[in-house]
Amino acid sequence: MTMHAGGARAAYEGQRVDTSSKWYRLFQKGVELGTWNVEKLFEEVGLEEDREQWESMAQDERDQVRYLLSGFLDGEREVAGDAATNLSRIMGAPCLDDNEEKEMYMTMLTLTEHKHTQFIDVYMREVMDDRDNYAELDPRRGTRIPIVQATGLGEVFENQGLQTAKAAQTRDPVDIAKAATVYHLNVEGILARVGGFAINRISEAAYLPLLNHGFKFVSTDEGRHITHGVNLLKELIEKEERGEPEYQGVKQGIIDMLHHDAPYMADFAYMFTEAMGDPLGVDIDDVLLRGGHLIDGMYNESLGLDLDYLEMINRVSDRYEEIKGWNLQEIVERQEVHYDRRRGVAADGAGGD
Ligand SMILES: [Fe+2]
Ligand SMILES: [Fe+2]
Repeated sequence: MTMHAGGARAAYEGQRVDTSSKWYRLFQKGVELGTWNVEKLFEEVGLEEDREQWESMAQDERDQVRYLLSGFLDGEREVAGDAATNLSRIMGAPCLDDNEEKEMYMTMLTLTEHKHTQFIDVYMREVMDDRDNYAELDPRRGTRIPIVQATGLGEVFENQGLQTAKAAQTRDPVDIAKAATVYHLNVEGILARVGGFAINRISEAAYLPLLNHGFKFVSTDEGRHITHGVNLLKELIEKEERGEPEYQGVKQGIIDMLHHDAPYMADFAYMFTEAMGDPLGVDIDDVLLRGGHLIDGMYNESLGLDLDYLEMINRVSDRYEEIKGWNLQEIVERQEVHYDRRRGVAADGAGGD
């Protein structure tokens, strides 16, 4: 069965490239829509308004924006790195269909992820003070930003690296399903989407035009990446449901990965709770509900799984009760002291353990 995107017949046909493939259409879409130019955007929108706004913001407001963008910066760098290596290898796996077109599509995904990293990295350097960056501590020009490391979000990125590397090695359908779940559903579909939602909320309280423009492009790109991930997983689930032996365990693998990542994502989102002040009015209840709806939409509606997302939201709320006494500032500072030791800078009061 050949899959047609939106029923549209391909205008041109190839011999090696199947121009009627869903992934070919997605590749074409990426070529057309994924070509925004980060440097041009900086020129066209300019940095001045964002700098002025940043200057006028209170420290706790700045922290909220900085923490959110830190999660994005570390995340974009991780997905960009895995896209170029592990994911590209996975797309050639014998168990997948349309390998050629999937590999073509992966080049667009990789390009856009590097642009996202470029946009956020330059933005943080040029507009915000960038004390959170410890770029020189790592050979890949970046070590996890303290807030990301301290809140558990780093665990999600670790898992992504682990699962995608494993799937690239084994090319086993269940391993591929787990890798695609972490990468496309959890990191892109939940984290990046909820993060984008938070950016919108923040702009209502403190409008940063350049950040806003950039994230409109980022969100559109992510939409295509998630479509790719959902379709890939559908393909694997269909084969599992047809009873093909090596695909058994695909659905369970997908569910397992959500249960693995959700608590860490929730801990990162803790910084938007009332307990942390929420100076820019992001509103954690809205954030959680948004996350729940995204889980429902992708896991249940699109993939036909049966996850109780309300139960997941309740578990997150329980967790927030549990960590109510968390002193996030202190946790972050401890991480900074640790990094400063590594970079050989003597931090004040950095004695002790
Ligand atoms: Fe991205
Ligand atoms: Fe993405």
